[in-house]
Amino acid sequence: MPNPFQAVPPSSRVEGLSDLRAVASAPGKLILFGEHAIVYGHPAIAAVTNQRTEVEVDRCGDRFTVNGYRIHERYHSYLKKAVEHVWKHDDPIRIQTEGGVPSASGTGSSAALTVATVAALMQLDGQQDEEGNHDLAKLAQLSFEVERLTQGGGSPIDTSTSTAGGGIAIGGKPPGIGDPLWDITWEDHAWSVERIALPELSIVVGNSGVKGKTDEQVAKVARGVQRNPLVREALADIGKLSHEAIPALKANDYVAIGELMNKAHSALHTIGVNHPALQKLVDVVRDVPGTYGAKITGAGGGGSIAVLTDKPYRAARAIEEAGGTPYQITIGGPGVEWADMATVP
Ligand code: MEV
Repeated sequence: MPNPFQAVPPSSRVEGLSDLRAVASAPGKLILFGEHAIVYGHPAIAAVTNQRTEVEVDRCGDRFTVNGYRIHERYHSYLKKAVEHVWKHDDPIRIQTEGGVPSASGTGSSAALTVATVAALMQLDGQQDEEGNHDLAKLAQLSFEVERLTQGGGSPIDTSTSTAGGGIAIGGKPPGIGDPLWDITWEDHAWSVERIALPELSIVVGNSGVKGKTDEQVAKVARGVQRNPLVREALADIGKLSHEAIPALKANDYVAIGELMNKAHSALHTIGVNHPALQKLVDVVRDVPGTYGAKITGAGGGGSIAVLTDKPYRAARAIEEAGGTPYQITIGGPGVEWADMATVP
């Protein structure tokens, strides 16, 4: 949709305000086990990907802008909410974004954008301690609040993964399988986040090209939870698969991990978040030699599948031939990162 808003001239700079720029970047995420179940407190396992989004913020303009355009709810819902929630000053913020995480693909584009924006705003606000350390627990909590206020539902899995980097386990009760990182709360809900070590898995993500909307899928599952005991059972089963996956992941046992991924896919189908375009990719790729397992990753209803394979090129080709877009993903890199503050040129 064309943006009807006028670009704001770069010369619209307010003299006399601090002319520092803060820059932060944050990665996308891949949910290995536990999407949707985590909203109800069942455990989940996720890792960051090597796709990243970078955000620059400064207070050198005379109005709130995003990439040179006046900020607008319809085009910049997460960014607008982030500024409203985090920036407690009157002076307007200019935001520049550079996204490396494909949108609505199930790989955490909105979390990466939110975490990077909140991180940059916290830095511009001088919230780091005397040694320059950032409060990651606070960043994870604020970023979750921004996502939740924007989407109206969901869990902190995406924002906490993007903040923490590496691999995490998360649950309504402490999963008890890693080292405690932080707790995240929302009204009367609470989640505990733990750091876990993950092996270097060879994963191909297949994007169906159908845009999956997280808020719609979360709301759909919520309706199922109210009406259908099979949905409640399937969510509990998904949580159990997260626990069963831990020894398989520790042993880097592709056969066991792949079987658990296939079971998770069936349970996600039962709760109603599959889509014909996703199922087509799963069916095609499961027939390819080298595939150990394939499942929806993220909210579903469109978006992507994750494939565990030791023949990534073959899996990628099959996904492409079936009409999807393959990405070879490396999991487990760094979480949020800040650049040193610099003066706006
Ligand atoms: C989306 O990436 C993961 C969901 O579980 C929603 C959430 O936890 O916020 C589907």
